[in-house]
Amino acid sequence: MTVRLALLVAVLLASTPALAADDDAAMLELADKSRCTACHDVRDKVTGPAWIEVANRYRNDAGAFERLVVKVREGGSGVWGTVAMSPNKRVSEENIRKLVRWILTLK
Ligand code: HEC
Repeated sequence: MTVRLALLVAVLLASTPALAADDDAAMLELADKSRCTACHDVRDKVTGPAWIEVANRYRNDAGAFERLVVKVREGGSGVWGTVAMSPNKRVSEENIRKLVRWILTLK
């Protein structure tokens, strides 16, 4: 897990030098602790869609943030395929909001 996280950070740093590296490292750590990274990666599709693709899809969708917070909490399927995201109820509402806000800023 730690190696994977380091890799993610390295990829992010290499490809998006303009992003605040400290924020990204902290958010990747939170994503890892929240077990999102069991199914997600920033740039690659795993079980779930790459988060960069999520950001691209909703870039001009003002209502996306609130919808995605609910989706992450409750789980669901049908937007990216037939595989479902399981509910993430052990993750606090505050942390889900932080994660979704960050995901939507990815470029
Ligand atoms: C068990 C695997 C799994 C875990 C754990 C998981 N996801 Fe997902 N996630 C998925 C799948 C599969 C989808 C695609 C669902 C769909 O097609 O509607 C998805 C979709 C998403 C989407 C896009 C939803 C949409 O409707 O477009 C976001 C944002 C997201 N996940 C964030 C998270 C965050 C944040 C966490 C950690 C708190 C997390 N996921 C944990 C599998 C997972």
